[in-house]
Formats: sequence, C-alpha cells, structure tokens
Amino acid sequence: MQNSRPQQFVAVLDFGAQYGQLIARRVRDLNVYSEIVPCDIPADELAAMGPSAIILSGGPASVYADDAPDMDEKIFSLGLPVLGFCYGQQIMAVKLGGKVGHTEKGEYGPAQLTRKGESRLLDGTPDAQTVWMSHRDAVSEVPEGFSITSVTETCPVASMEDASRNLYATQFHPEVRHSVHGNEMLSNFLFNVCGLDKTWTMEGIIDEKVAEIRAEVGSRKVILALSGGVDSSVVAALVHRAIGDQLTCVFVNHGMLRKGEPEMVEEVFRDQFNVPLVHVHAEERYAKLLSGVTDPEQKRRLIGSEFWKVFFDEAQKIGGVEMLAQGTIYPDIIESGARKTGGKASTIKSHHNLIPFPDGVHFDLIEPLDHFFKDEVRELGIALGLPAKMVWRQPFPGPGLAIRIIGDVTPEKLEILKNADAIVREELDAYNQDLFEKTGDRNSEHSCWQYFAVLPDIKSVGVMGDERTYQRPVIVRAVESSDAMTADWAKLPYEVLGRISSRIVDEVEGINRVVYDVTPKPPATIEWE
Ligand code: XMP
Repeated sequence: MQNSRPQQFVAVLDFGAQYGQLIARRVRDLNVYSEIVPCDIPADELAAMGPSAIILSGGPASVYADDAPDMDEKIFSLGLPVLGFCYGQQIMAVKLGGKVGHTEKGEYGPAQLTRKGESRLLDGTPDAQTVWMSHRDAVSEVPEGFSITSVTETCPVASMEDASRNLYATQFHPEVRHSVHGNEMLSNFLFNVCGLDKTWTMEGIIDEKVAEIRAEVGSRKVILALSGGVDSSVVAALVHRAIGDQLTCVFVNHGMLRKGEPEMVEEVFRDQFNVPLVHVHAEERYAKLLSGVTDPEQKRRLIGSEFWKVFFDEAQKIGGVEMLAQGTIYPDIIESGARKTGGKASTIKSHHNLIPFPDGVHFDLIEPLDHFFKDEVRELGIALGLPAKMVWRQPFPGPGLAIRIIGDVTPEKLEILKNADAIVREELDAYNQDLFEKTGDRNSEHSCWQYFAVLPDIKSVGVMGDERTYQRPVIVRAVESSDAMTADWAKLPYEVLGRISSRIVDEVEGINRVVYDVTPKPPATIEWE
C-alpha cells in the first residue's frame, strides 16, 4: 500500500541503529505523526515528502569518524524547523560552521543542567534540571547566529538554538524518560515553534485509514490470513470497518493452537464483528503431516509450507480475490531495512518476498499497519472494539504447540500440553493483571512477557495415592523481555509457582512432575525448539 501521510508530519533522520525509533514514538505520543527516514536522504527528496519539521537523532558514531553517517546540509536551508539531539546537535554544528571536540571526560547517565538566557526550546522548564547524557564528543563552538541555552559541569554547550532560523539542538537526550522535562521540550518544539496540531489520535487515524483502504480496494475482494494474533486481528477489524463483506478472513486451524483460541477467533470475528470467516479445519491434515517428525526445523518447514498451501486453496475456492491484507507493522519494515543495509536502521525496504506465492498466483497487498508501532496497533485494536485479551495477547509462534512438544507430535501429547498450558496462562495472566492494577503499566518491571508450558520427551517416577506413577513432566517457561532478542527468566513468587505446580499435577492427566526453567536468553532461547 502506498503510504499516504497525514498533512502534518515530522521526519526523523536516523543516524544510527534505531536511535530514531524512540524519538518517533515520543512525537506520536504527543499526537503528531512522525516517520523515520534515512539520514542521508537528499534535501530535495525530503522536501518532496512534505514534512512540517525535522528531527536529527542521536547516533553511536563520532562526527569526525571516516564512516560517520552524513546528511545533506541543504536540509538546513529548506526553511523548516530542525531539532537535533546528541549526534544531531553535533552534525548541525559542524555543517553550519561550528566546532565539535572531545570533552575531557565523557558524560553518561543523568547530568545536572543549568539554563542560560532565553530559550524557546527550554521555555517553561526549571533553571536547574536533570537530563540524560550519553556522549564523548560535544560542540565546543556554536555556529554563527546560535546562542548557548544551557550547560552542564562537563558540557559547555548542553543546548543551543538560533530561533531566527528555527534551528534547535541539545547534547542530551530529551526523548529518554530520565530527562525529566524532555517531553515539555519536545512539546515546545512541536507546538510553539512549529505550530503543529494534535492530529495523530486514534479516531482521526481510523477515519483516515478507512478512507485510504476504501480508495485503494475499490470494489475488489480482499482475503486475509487470520491467526488470532494481535496484528492480523487488528488488520481484520480495520479492513472490515472499511470494506465490510468484501473482506473474507481465512483461519487455518492446524490443531496446534492453544486451548480456547479457535473458539475465541470465531466468537470475536464471526459473532461479534460479523466478518465472513472461513474456519479451515486442517487438524487431521497436519497430524498426518507431522507424524513421526522430531526435528524442530523440519516441523517449522512443514507447518509453514502447508499453511500457505491450505490458504491459497481456500482463496481459490472463494474465487475472484485480487487482494491480500497483511498485518505487517512498522518494526518489521524498519528491521527488514536494517538487515538489507548492514545495520543502518532507516533504509526502508520491502519485505514482501516472505510470502511464498505459488507460481501464477498474484495478489495486490494491502498493509494498513505498516507505519504503526506495536503499542499503537494495540491502541487501534481497542479503539476498533477488539477485546483486551486479544489485543494484549502474548507472542505465539506460527508453528504453535508443535515446537513446544519435544520429539514427535501426537494427539495425546497435544491434549496434555494444551491443558497444562491453559493453567500456566490462567495463573500468569492473573499475576500480570495484578501487577498492572498496582502499577498502571502493562509492561511494568517483573511482568511476564511470554509464558507457556513445554512437554519434554521423557518420563519420571512419582507416587500418587499409594501408587507408583511413571509419567511425563511439564516444564514451565516464563520470561521477562521487551523484544525477544534477550530475555530473563521471570522471578515469580514461590506461591505462584507452587499453585501452578499443584494445579497441573491435580488437573492434568498424565503429568506427575512440574519444573521451572531458570535460564536466560542467551544462552538459552525462549522456546525449547
Ligand atoms: P526464541 O525461542 O528464538 O524466540 O528465543 C524468540 C521469539 O520468537 C518466537 N518464535 C517464533 N515465532 N515462528 C514464529 O512465528 C517460529 O518458528 C518461532 N520460533 C520462535 C518465540 O515465541 C519468541 O517470542
């Protein structure tokens, strides 16, 4: 889908692996649309995008390094307000005739800032305040026309501005929460300096996206693979809002979903939203396919390729379908860009080749969430009326429970795992909810990010009543993480672990032992296969 931007938007030039992401998030939190662009974008290309303002992100490099990320200095002559942070301040200084040098010692972490003179950027913030610093180099001489608006003990130019040209910069990071008044500075820039309106609100976004989808789809039929996950569910609700019954959702049930999940998908989409939904019962087909397969990668391959076969068969049965809606989100795009360009996060490239279209099959794609961050997708889901339990669903792998059963997958093992997993989820959903009620934050410290049961391929001896048992154990895995790249095992209270253990052995037939996985990632992974 062509990304049609709101009329007002802020372009964030990203000078290093994902420094821009947090800034874009903060701007959007203030209800202004913001998009990340490559730092080396030519000025005329940037001007053609029509931004209302520009922010230069921080970055890990030194401006004088040979391979330091560069920018087109003509951007400063576009007549647009520019705000730079950290590396962004340094490159602004160098490009406009100032100087950057090494400070005697670097500054990392909180620093005490003292304001000097008038400043439009710092307006309304205290004369002395805490900011977050992370730098070795710093501006030593400001360009002509600039004044120094704050200092710290080790940094002679903690912020600078030339209000007549609407150029502003800080050595510290206002986008980081530890900069206590950072948000006020960002507000000053967006609303007082740039005069922007708060147009990036969920209601506004839904109206805009609905109009866009209608225009793009016209009278064509659209198909969508619904998994029950957050992204595909939100796309389904949004596209259905736009084009009604021109959308058909196909839910491929491979039998390895968690207990209650197929029912939830039916209940929400068929009963509540009245979306045309094809529930493909492929359980037996998958059971045959996986019979005797023990290698994790082989399981993944088989499940993935079969999924698309089933899905495209269904598309053919519906007939006349020309478009495929997909739940691609902004981090997918940024990350696939980063992969293709050796780490520069901002070079945005398509990743559509991930869908294995069979020969001769073609669909036009619509990806209405391709510029939304995950938490915006959740907010959108709630605004569209999806239930909180679906919108806050934890990540769940495509191959499902097949990669949580070590060794071959059988209907009996699936049944045991579904029942044990339902207890782990029930107890830890309640634990997370409790933390949320206490802190008001769904991602608060110690809340579990992903949690589930694993069924290993071993048995052990136990005793139940007067009888010796020889049954399977269940492994409980619960981790704290923010992005699945690294994770730590959750430090769950003993009572919670105890309750999970006694409920599983009491309620799940075939289990006589429960163990807890206390390994971080790395060296382990979150999943067992
Ligand atoms: P690992 O086990 O590599 O998992 O630490 C990191 C995250 O990715 C999920 N995961 C998968 N998701 N297909 C998926 O869609 C897969 O094959 C797959 N394997 C792992 C895992 O649940 C965790 O959130």
